[in-house]
Amino acid sequence: MGNFRFLTAGESHGQCLTAIVEGLPAGLKIDINEINRDLARRQQGYGRGGRMKIETDKADIISGVRFAETMGDPITLRIVNRDWQNWTERMSVFGEEAGEKVTAVRPGHADLTGILKYDRNDARDILERASARETAARVAVGALCKEFLAACGIQVVSQVVRIGGISVNEANIDRSMIGKGDSELNCYDSVAEELMKKKIQEAMANGDTLGGVFEVIVRGAPLGLGSHIQWDKRLDGKLAWALMAIQAIKGVEIGAGFKCGDLPGSQIHDEMFLDSESRVYRKTNRAGGLEGGMTNGEEISVKACMKPIPTLMQPLNSVDIKSKSEVSACKERSDVCAVSAASVVGEAMTAIIMTEAMLDKFGCDAMVDILEGLERYRQRVQGGL
Ligand SMILES: Cc1cc2nc3c(=O)[nH]c(=O)nc-3n(C[C@H](O)[C@H](O)[C@H](O)COP(=O)(O)O)c2cc1C
Repeated sequence: MGNFRFLTAGESHGQCLTAIVEGLPAGLKIDINEINRDLARRQQGYGRGGRMKIETDKADIISGVRFAETMGDPITLRIVNRDWQNWTERMSVFGEEAGEKVTAVRPGHADLTGILKYDRNDARDILERASARETAARVAVGALCKEFLAACGIQVVSQVVRIGGISVNEANIDRSMIGKGDSELNCYDSVAEELMKKKIQEAMANGDTLGGVFEVIVRGAPLGLGSHIQWDKRLDGKLAWALMAIQAIKGVEIGAGFKCGDLPGSQIHDEMFLDSESRVYRKTNRAGGLEGGMTNGEEISVKACMKPIPTLMQPLNSVDIKSKSEVSACKERSDVCAVSAASVVGEAMTAIIMTEAMLDKFGCDAMVDILEGLERYRQRVQGGL
């Protein structure tokens, strides 16, 4: 990362999750309700497990903000795990060992490889951190970034477009409404959503789990974020990395994505036209707002595919690391389908990368300088050829 960076810490059933965010400029107004709103959105969704009913996440800011405004210092966010009170002995920092060890490792999870790599004999030492509970901290960081982006006229939203093989019909979706809905699955095609819910019910009844695909959309980004000049400055690469670095994400597409491999150039590239003031416009956006590793001024569209949740209530065949025998995998309280939650995490990771790109381009000390620079730049590049 450039001038902007963040780290998260905390276990799934530990005392709290913490994030330290460095590089946000001074003079940014912060509304804690915006952060808590996204934390709540991450917890909702049809097909979520019992844990979501226990936790009602709220963030505290314990450094870096004074009188609701950033000072340019590192910002520390803390989200208390309300479930901690049921785990004080099993997750004790210095107490005696307590609770049964988790030894029947789950296929599709970090359990076995983590145990071997870190030389542990209890999968809890691995799963507590591998768990996507950690994404609550990322969502809080992403929400801070969204507040920065909003001040720059940039919005990050998402929609779920597929679950368990059931896809939305794009013709049924008014894209301008994305980000304004209150659907349980963060889906904007109500017909498809009902079918998705049925599919989730079926999976639940069978002790099975489902994955799917979500799309993250960025509106209002100026052209020229990211760069073609070096591989690690390409914004498409950074977005793909950030989305792929969400637990259970197994594929990322930018714009038309994998379809680009099927169709000829004439049906993929977005032709350019000039309006009466010599401003360039396009009739299509199959590039998903990114050309040459840079934003091109169109809406950014990135899709990510989530695999089905690895903890099944009808457990898969596995092995027990203690008895050295074949057993059924362990069961932790778990989601059946978390694609809608993942879409909120996807928004957060996208907002983080967009924030980094904005700060790289416009500096990162004071909001006033960033906004002035942005305005000047917009005038230069949007004024027509
Ligand atoms: C929002 C979200 C919720 C998740 N919920 C669960 C869950 O309840 N149970 C589970 O076993 N895995 C869950 N996962 C997936 C695991 O965290 C993930 O599969 C695991 O850490 C292994 O990483 P990998 O799938 O990237 O290889 C969730 C992932 C996300 C993004």
